[in-house]
This record gives sequence, C-alpha cells and structure tokens, in this order.
Amino acid sequence: MIATARYLTQPDSLDQRVIFITGAGQGLGRQAAIAFAQHGATVILAGRKQKKLEAVYDEIVASGLPEPLIFPLDLQKADEEEFKALAEGIYQQLGRLDGILHNAAAFDRLGPLEIHTAKEFELMFKVNVIAPFALTKACMPLLKMAPDASVVFVSSTTGHEPAAYWGAHGVSKKALEHLMQTWSLELEQFPQIRLNVVLPGAIQSPQRKKSHPGEVHADLPQADQLMDLYVYLMSAASKDQYGKILSPEA
Ligand SMILES: NC(=O)c1ccc[n+]([C@@H]2O[C@H](COP(=O)([O-])OP(=O)(O)OC[C@H]3O[C@@H](n4cnc5c(N)ncnc54)[C@H](OP(=O)(O)O)[C@@H]3O)[C@@H](O)[C@H]2O)c1
Repeated sequence: MIATARYLTQPDSLDQRVIFITGAGQGLGRQAAIAFAQHGATVILAGRKQKKLEAVYDEIVASGLPEPLIFPLDLQKADEEEFKALAEGIYQQLGRLDGILHNAAAFDRLGPLEIHTAKEFELMFKVNVIAPFALTKACMPLLKMAPDASVVFVSSTTGHEPAAYWGAHGVSKKALEHLMQTWSLELEQFPQIRLNVVLPGAIQSPQRKKSHPGEVHADLPQADQLMDLYVYLMSAASKDQYGKILSPEA
C-alpha cells in the first residue's frame, strides 16, 4: 500500500544531522544533498564521479551551508569491507550518522526479459539492492547511536508494480522494497531507527531522459518539488513514518 505523508519541515529541521547520500552528483541525489544542507545537515556526497561530487560540494560551500564530505564510491564494486571502512571513517570524522538516502540506481535499458542477460541482473541487483543492504548494515551501529535515525530507499512505480520491459531494474526495485519491509519488522525493538521507501514519480533527471526517451522531459516536475518530502523524512517530524512506501502528495 502506498501512503502519503504530511510534510512538516522547518528551516533548521536537519540542524546538526549527518546524512549520507548515494548518487549525490546529479539528478535527485544532487538536489537532495543541497536541500538537506539548506536545512542544516552536514551531507556526505557519495558517487562514482568525483568531478560531479566536487561541483555539488562547491555549490553547497558557496551558499555558506555546512561543509560536506565527498566519498567516491562505486556501488557495483564496493564490498562489505569497504562499507565497514566507510562507516568507521564517518564515525572518526563526524562522530555520528543520522540518515542514509539510498538514491543511486543502476539502469541499463528497457527490453523484454527474453533479451536480458544474467549479467544485467547481477549488476542491477548489486547496485540497487545488495549495496544498499550492505551499506545500511555497516552503518547500523552508528544509526543505533543517533537520537532518531532515518534510512530512505528510493524505489520506482515500475518496480512497485510489475511493468513490462523494465526487466532487471524493475525486479531489483521490488526487491529493495521487500528489503526495507523485512528490516523494518526486525527493527521493531529499535523505534529510534526508521526505514521507509520513496516512490518519487516522474521527475526530470539524467536517468529519466535515458529511461523515457519518448517523453517531453521539460514537461516533468523538477527535482526540487520532491524536497519537502525528502527533508521531512530525514527530520524528527517523520518519526512516526515506519516501514512505509511513500509517494509525494499530489
Ligand atoms: N527521475 C525519475 O523520474 C525517477 C522516477 C522513479 C524513481 N527514480 C529513482 O530516483 C533515484 C535517482 O534517480 P535520478 O532520476 O535522479 O537518476 P540519475 O540522475 O541518473 O541519478 C542516478 C544516480 O545513481 C548513481 N549511480 C549509478 N550507478 C552507480 C554506481 N555503480 N555506484 C554509485 N552510484 C551510482 C549515479 O551516479 P554517478 O555520477 O556515479 O553516475 C547518479 O548520481 C533512482 O533510485 C531512481 O531509480 C527516479
């Protein structure tokens, strides 16, 4: 069931918080990093492309917002040891972690399952499911220390409901939702940690251009329109959102 949430945010909603964002160099991840910083958070910008991360870093610093950290990270290659080292690095440098936005996603192509390959499935599952699992697991001790921690996984409607030709990408997004729901059940004794999924809907982004070539891209909403929901989910105001699959209110 898809829920909607009322977004109660204040300018300092994320004051003092440390939030890790995957795929922070472009699209929704870049916009989320800026929005979180604008609400007071120190953001950790993760992604494969250092130059793009540096551009987001520069934009945040130039606006006088809390200085971010950059963490080059390829979710396809990272293993549990790298995630463990990452969590230790966050603890040593910042001393806390209040949220993770699992925004990054691999997308290859649309096409019938009969032409998909097992290798494509491996890639989609590594980046879209296994890496979010392993990163969250490595950070769990830090998240358990936070006053209220929020882990947000980003799915899509073409994963939430089966959609022809979305192949490994769609199947991996459904698995991500199941991961969040299973973990939420297991964390019932830790009410200070909440896990939720967001279904962003159609939003302008580089990946969207690739996945929906027939669409008039400029007619879609821009990423900043989602940010009230994203900031809300990272803030203490969303403490009662737990184990949900949320889409923005119309
Ligand atoms: N835009 C939409 O309409 C829409 C709709 C439904 C769901 N979503 C979801 O929203 C999220 C953001 O998508 P977007 O539209 O903003 O796409 P985007 O602009 O292409 O961003 C995707 C991000 O994923 C990162 N990424 C891909 N493979 C990676 C890897 N192996 N390791 C680390 N990072 C990797 C990319 O970083 P690099 O710089 O390293 O390439 C990029 O920053 C995704 O989870 C997507 O499925 C978007």
